[in-house]
Amino acid sequence: MEHSILELFYLAGSLTFIIGLKMLSHPETARRGNLLAAAGMGLAIMGTLIFYKSGVPMLIYALIFGAMIIGTISGWIAAKKVQMTAMPQMVSIFNGMGGACAMLIGLIEFHHFLESDDNLGLLTVLASMVIGSVSFAGSVIAWAKLNGNMKREIRLPKYNILNTAIMIIIVLLTAVIIGGWVPETPAIYVLFVLSLIYGILLVIPIGGADMPVVISLLNSFTGMAAAFAGFLYNNHVMLTGGILVGSAGTILTVVMCKGMNRSLTNVIFGAFGGGGATASGISGSGDKSVRDINISDTAVLLNYSKKVIIVPGYGLAVAQAQHVIHELETILEERGVEVKYAIHPVAGRMPGHMNVLLAESNVDYEKLIEMDLINPEFPTTDVVLVVGANDVVNPAAKNDPGSPIYGMPILDVESAKNIIVNKRSMSAGYAGIDNELFYNPKTSMLFGSAKQVLTELVTELKNMN
Ligand code: TAP
Repeated sequence: MEHSILELFYLAGSLTFIIGLKMLSHPETARRGNLLAAAGMGLAIMGTLIFYKSGVPMLIYALIFGAMIIGTISGWIAAKKVQMTAMPQMVSIFNGMGGACAMLIGLIEFHHFLESDDNLGLLTVLASMVIGSVSFAGSVIAWAKLNGNMKREIRLPKYNILNTAIMIIIVLLTAVIIGGWVPETPAIYVLFVLSLIYGILLVIPIGGADMPVVISLLNSFTGMAAAFAGFLYNNHVMLTGGILVGSAGTILTVVMCKGMNRSLTNVIFGAFGGGGATASGISGSGDKSVRDINISDTAVLLNYSKKVIIVPGYGLAVAQAQHVIHELETILEERGVEVKYAIHPVAGRMPGHMNVLLAESNVDYEKLIEMDLINPEFPTTDVVLVVGANDVVNPAAKNDPGSPIYGMPILDVESAKNIIVNKRSMSAGYAGIDNELFYNPKTSMLFGSAKQVLTELVTELKNMN
């Protein structure tokens, strides 16, 4: 009877995960979806504590509740305090905790399977431990890099070969442990340490700005590890949750790679965009020259436009200019200008970065238009205002087969009537390459940090009749 009630709790938990995940796909329902899935998780945990087994010592309950209270409070505070730009590292460390859970479950449970000679069970527990350890170690390194605690990419000589060799050793060692050809317990501890080393070595050579792709990949690893653990315990909610996280992480990894027109192997072994935000500071060399524009001329141009499209990028997020851009949009709309935002799938440094950033300042979701839908609208646009974006509007992606971003889908801002680009200098973006758009006769550069420039623009517009 108790078991059936528990299964009902798990069914309810699984359903909330699926519905919650679906709701995450739209900004309007995402918040509720998240809460729903969290409530489902709470239900599953409470169901387990109440109905799983009688006769569990009180001390165990005290430890469980103690850990839950500490986890809830620290998670809550971290989530409340986090800045939008620090979101990737928080996702990473939270993901690492999931990996650590699978790792610890594996380390505790393998003894039971050794005793019972259940080889399938042993394989599952080892898979969960190995993947969980890789995910945990990799996520901690990703966190340290994104948080600035670990500055440089460390490239051991022939690191690709070294990593591949360790992976092969892990697979072979797992096979000999299952076959019973080595003393199992010490070999499993060696396997555990090798998995941690592999997780570290996998992530340390990767450039800071590529980290979101890696985090998403590690996310899918954690999901897989949790699914293995669910299979092990015959726990359906753990299995469902693990499969959902695993497949969502995999899909997201693929989407991001596609958005950047790069393969996953190129992200992992390619040493691209190393070091983070910007490259060397390429300037308009040779006979190329740029035209700049001041605040008052920009205000006039915007004020007398019928249609304006704003292209937000990484620089907007860094400058924390999301509120003032919304203010600019509101003033223009009050003056009868139609304003929309063009959202590139990999603008910024994490999936959905621009959507979340603009939602934070209450920009209407309906105004956030995805790349494929907004591209046909540029020819009928009077002014495109590019704020802190660079690669996602670089025509080299279409015109220059030699460019590292060739083939990456871009926002077609070139076809608008006027283009205004706000950034601080002529420095390159994440890809580290020059941008022909800046030298286009239709383009005017509005130099300065986004928040300050937009604030001045808002003041200028307010002073205009
Ligand atoms: P970027 O190409 O990185 O360009 C951002 C620009 O913002 C820079 O050129 C910089 O120029 C400017 N900037 C920096 N701080 C600023 C400030 N305070 N005020 C105004 N401008 C500022 O950004 P993007 O166009 O958004 O493209 C994103 C890139 O990241 C793509 O190459 C994408 O593939 C890559 N990427 C994205 C993701 C995801 S999932 N979104 C993940 C990994 C990599 P100045 O220094 O001259 O100001």
